[in-house]
Amino acid sequence: MKIAVVGTGYVGLVTGTCFAETGNHVSCVDIDEKKVNKLRNGEVTIYEPGLEKLFLRNLKEERLVFTTDLADGIKEAEIIFLALPTPPGEDGSADLKHILGVAEDLGRIMKDYKVIVDKSTVPVGTAAKVHQAIAKNYSGEFDVVSNPEFLREGVAVEDFMKPDRVVIGTNSERAKKLMGDLYAPFVRQGNPVIYMDERSAELTKYAANSFLATKISFMNEIAIICEKMGADVDMVRRGIGSDDRIGKRFLFPGIGYGGSCFPKDVQALVRSSSDVKYDFRILNAVMEVNHAQKLHLLPGIRKYFKNDLKRKHFAVWGLAFKPNTDDIREAPALYIIDALLKEGATVTAFDPEAMKNVKNEWGNKIDFADSQYDALKDADALIIATEWNEFRTPDFSRIGGMLKNKAIFDGRNLFDLAAIKELGFHYESVGRNIVN
Ligand SMILES: NC(=O)c1ccc[n+]([C@@H]2O[C@H](COP(=O)([O-])OP(=O)(O)OC[C@H]3O[C@@H](n4cnc5c(N)ncnc54)[C@H](O)[C@@H]3O)[C@@H](O)[C@H]2O)c1
Repeated sequence: MKIAVVGTGYVGLVTGTCFAETGNHVSCVDIDEKKVNKLRNGEVTIYEPGLEKLFLRNLKEERLVFTTDLADGIKEAEIIFLALPTPPGEDGSADLKHILGVAEDLGRIMKDYKVIVDKSTVPVGTAAKVHQAIAKNYSGEFDVVSNPEFLREGVAVEDFMKPDRVVIGTNSERAKKLMGDLYAPFVRQGNPVIYMDERSAELTKYAANSFLATKISFMNEIAIICEKMGADVDMVRRGIGSDDRIGKRFLFPGIGYGGSCFPKDVQALVRSSSDVKYDFRILNAVMEVNHAQKLHLLPGIRKYFKNDLKRKHFAVWGLAFKPNTDDIREAPALYIIDALLKEGATVTAFDPEAMKNVKNEWGNKIDFADSQYDALKDADALIIATEWNEFRTPDFSRIGGMLKNKAIFDGRNLFDLAAIKELGFHYESVGRNIVN
């Protein structure tokens, strides 16, 4: 099949590459000329495990091509995916200017039947708006389908190649057939392709992300209660997670969710609920809890340093909003660092993949280290903000030998309390006793 993907970011590049991998010819369109040139030259513009190998193979086979010219990119495509940004507008609602702008352009250049697919996360009613925007300038036949994407950054290729489910929102039989054929190689093991109307498909994505965010904020509140009541959240987590109705995943407490999806999607669902005169109370609480949780470690850090962080120097391990990605959008680490700097502290950070993105955004507001141990030089304490695997079993004697104080503030509960006590560290984590 010939397809086009408009927008070549985290979702667009994975989508395009994975569709090429199953034999389709994929033309990827992006307005960012620099990005398109890099991609054409074989440079993968995001960090995503497993992506590079697939990308290079399909680029070489010329099943994957890149262009900045929309008309050229969609000319031969039967299906056009829109994987464009939907950032929060000033009022928290999803800003549809990229989507609707491209839809209008498509109307001007389309010449035959095509299926236009909203892959971006968009509010209920967007498929109808996209339809309208195209129809302004194009009177031929076409269908607009909602096909939300559920991939997780860090395991995006695996998620795309073997999705738990594929949601296809359309009432058009013609579009259903084309979409079903395109996805058939990805659901051979029997995972469902769920067909529904456009509006339900659009809401499914927001409901999924909001539910997961709720699970995280709920567990973070349980962690706070554990600290106050002298219980251990790890035990509670295991105790409830073995119940099938609850499930083991998304029960790990920490310093809040971040990234490009949960924060904006929860906010957008609250906003679009208020448009239909409904106050989504649970989600308001989820956002409030998450906001506070990003700075959960701070009171402990202040107390340890007797409320004076001026000229204190911190090593921070982890900048990305989660491991296995270089994405720093809404990353809790950045909120913590910002708060420390405001109180007069300085920071040297290390992250295996995300330092370049922070440097681009922050310049030399903080220092960056070449390794996790280099970051410890002259540091008064260590803060852990992202659970990269390489931080899980570090050389504790090296850490202890380098830090001015043997103090670790761990926002991701990486270490065993008994073991760390034995090693003589002051250790604070989330929802567990402080080790002194
Ligand atoms: N990142 C995720 O994990 C994830 C997962 C599921 C769904 N989503 C949703 O997918 C959508 C895209 O997210 P993303 O993280 O890939 O965004 P991104 O910012 O990484 O990528 C968007 C791309 O679109 C390009 N672009 C912007 N305007 C354009 C235009 N007019 N024409 C062509 N290209 C244009 C940008 O240059 C950029 O390369 C969002 O709605 C997001 O909520 C994201």
